[in-house]
Amino acid sequence: MGVGQRQRTGSSGQVNRQRIAAASAMAQVIKCVSNTARQPLDFPNLSSSLNAENMQLAWDEISSWPGYAPTPLHRMPELAEHCGVKAVLYKDEAQRFGLGSFKALGGAYAVANLMKRHRRAGQDLSALTVTTATDGNHGRSVAWGAQRVGCAAKIFIHKHVSKSREQAMRDLGADVMRIDGNYDASLAVCRDEAESQGWQMVSDTSWPGYREIPLEVMAGYSVLARELIEQVGNLPISHAFLPVGVGGMAGGIVAALWQEMGKQLCHIISVESDRAPCFQLSIAAHSPTKFEIVAETLMAGLSCGEVSELAWEILHPTLSHCLSISDQAVAPLMRLLGRESFGGLSLQAGECSTAGLAALLAANKDPKLRRELSLGRDSVVLLIGTEGATDPELYESILKGHNTT
Ligand SMILES: Cc1ncc(COP(=O)(O)O)c(C=O)c1O
Repeated sequence: MGVGQRQRTGSSGQVNRQRIAAASAMAQVIKCVSNTARQPLDFPNLSSSLNAENMQLAWDEISSWPGYAPTPLHRMPELAEHCGVKAVLYKDEAQRFGLGSFKALGGAYAVANLMKRHRRAGQDLSALTVTTATDGNHGRSVAWGAQRVGCAAKIFIHKHVSKSREQAMRDLGADVMRIDGNYDASLAVCRDEAESQGWQMVSDTSWPGYREIPLEVMAGYSVLARELIEQVGNLPISHAFLPVGVGGMAGGIVAALWQEMGKQLCHIISVESDRAPCFQLSIAAHSPTKFEIVAETLMAGLSCGEVSELAWEILHPTLSHCLSISDQAVAPLMRLLGRESFGGLSLQAGECSTAGLAALLAANKDPKLRRELSLGRDSVVLLIGTEGATDPELYESILKGHNTT
């Protein structure tokens, strides 16, 4: 149900309540870190970061692409009732440009800009090759962006990336190379190859000296928040639970909300896997801190050991709390969302899409955490369904209940 629409009255309200309670029992916050650096500040509008101008440029460009449509914002009254809050809103990115995740907004936008710069500089357009390392979703966006503008894409994946995700990038015309190692290993090879071959890196994460392209990627993500601001209308968000990998998506959303809300910026809560809590660690240390990933989370897009420099600059002064969650609730929550548990809605929610919901349900069970996060009767909670069935085989097997990890 979209915001403002009437609720479809489910005949199985009782069953839904039981399902929500059962899935909630699996949700677990492993650690909560409060950010003592947060201050009520006006949006800084810095030239070196996301600002009114680059977010507007992204909006103008992306909203003009064929097939563009704002993704839905669903209201979940049963979940709100269960959690004792005023409203829960779910921004559903499953159908974004037919690519299955919000990532479609970022990489493809950066590739489009690269092509424009090449054209303006009078360079040979057929010589442009873009490259990236990826867990799947960002690479798909870069491959799609390259296909849109007609340049080559070389994508590096690591050994844990699924076959379906690899195939999705090949289907968009990209060359895909699998590296025997983790994400960091694939990024290292990608950086070396980009330098030796003269390819353009289109990374979704930034580091000292590499900011221009990831800034455009994040500006692309801010389009999601601009839609959101229009969709919520007079139901102002009080709490945003944002899934975080390198922090690019959260940075893009927070910049747009901060521009809108200024000093009254709502509670911003990062949600990470306890197998890759690099933001939590960094916020606790007040400095970007690397986390060595030992085991991969099922939420593949959140498996990141290092924060993005640009995202850090936006999130360090704005995050209220950093939560890390276990993998336990991923499969039950995917089923909960997929099986019409909320007002008759069947939501195709991939692994990462469960992160915010798991954090909310776990916080709700714990009175101390509820108080710590200032969750109450008047709260309006935003969740982001960051992906749909981006790995269709895994998604199907989980929905059938075969995979309960
Ligand atoms: C589906 C999904 N959700 C969330 C994230 C996290 O985004 P970020 O790395 O920008 O924090 C990713 C990243 O790849 C993703 O693919």
